[in-house]
Amino acid sequence: MADTSVAGNIPASGRRSRIAGVGGYLPEKIVTNADLTRIVDTSDEWITARTGIKQRHLAGSHETAAFMGAQAAAAALAQAGVAAASVDAIILATATPDEAFPATAVRVQALLGITTGFAFDISAACSGFIYALSVADSLIRGGTASRVLVIGSEVYSRILDWQDRTTCVLFGDGAGAVLLQAAPAGGAGILSTHLHANGAYGDMLYVDGAVGQRDRPGTVVMKGQEVFRHAVSKLSAAVDEALEANGLTHADIDWLVPHQANLRIIDAMGRRLSLPPERVVITVDRHANTSAASVPLALAEAVNDGRIQPGHLVLMEALGGGLTWGSALARF
Ligand code: COA
Repeated sequence: MADTSVAGNIPASGRRSRIAGVGGYLPEKIVTNADLTRIVDTSDEWITARTGIKQRHLAGSHETAAFMGAQAAAAALAQAGVAAASVDAIILATATPDEAFPATAVRVQALLGITTGFAFDISAACSGFIYALSVADSLIRGGTASRVLVIGSEVYSRILDWQDRTTCVLFGDGAGAVLLQAAPAGGAGILSTHLHANGAYGDMLYVDGAVGQRDRPGTVVMKGQEVFRHAVSKLSAAVDEALEANGLTHADIDWLVPHQANLRIIDAMGRRLSLPPERVVITVDRHANTSAASVPLALAEAVNDGRIQPGHLVLMEALGGGLTWGSALARF
């Protein structure tokens, strides 16, 4: 995957962006479903049957969104063979930033030893990575940047109500990153991104507080069944939209890299696309839902273990609080 071409030399008129490196970071501590039965009234059978989740990684005190994001970003840079100093921008999607400001992306920038360019966070819950990828792709195609680190990094363990069995069993912590860089139009790269939001559904999945609300940091609140229904219908429409926009069909897709919220939603999407299960990248069993980190973590796993190969067409999709949702289609 190493790319030694000088991304900045490709004129804006003939550019697209391509994923030149991927990386992931998972906290050391693993918590199984059986472990959770000691905290809330639940069972491995219930969690497995309803979600497909068997375990999740939970962050230690030093494993913040910035720390994990920097680890994942460093791995993506190393895979791309790109020096940190040549990165033009860092876009980090998170709902669990280290601080209200500076942006966690700026903390990552410092951890990577980068002192130039720009860095900012994106808040779009579980769709955050797709949103960040879309913005980064636009910056590269428009000529504003040539190399952008796109990161999803989350520590949901800090915003969960550990007494609420309906939410605390569903999430995990982690970070994933890609290095997106300018590439000649017509070759490998991001073919399209499509973003959506509808705030009318804001109360379906949200955190009931924030640092701006004194004494109310907030925890995750979710109407699970309603989110489930919207996830299947909206993501199905998003997938059709992405394929139509590129004149492609379900049969053209080599890999589906879906947001990892629930195995039943993922299975429904795979069936909708007529993709055999072995063409769908699944990490939810081991990572649970890592929100904005879930798609780049799954992508990194499938690239690193050799499943995703040069030339493959990869469809990424996600839905999250907002509601926000979207897709990204990439040729590797
Ligand atoms: N362990 C055991 N029982 C549990 C439980 C748990 N962790 N959580 C809920 N239950 C119980 C409920 O209390 C309910 O019991 P009752 O029938 O006695 O009231 C029963 O299980 C069924 O709950 P329900 O909410 O109807 O289950 P479900 O089949 O809808 O599954 C979700 C719940 C959350 C797994 C499912 O709705 C879901 O995955 N939704 C989408 C969530 C999602 O994708 N969120 C992230 C989007 S980014």
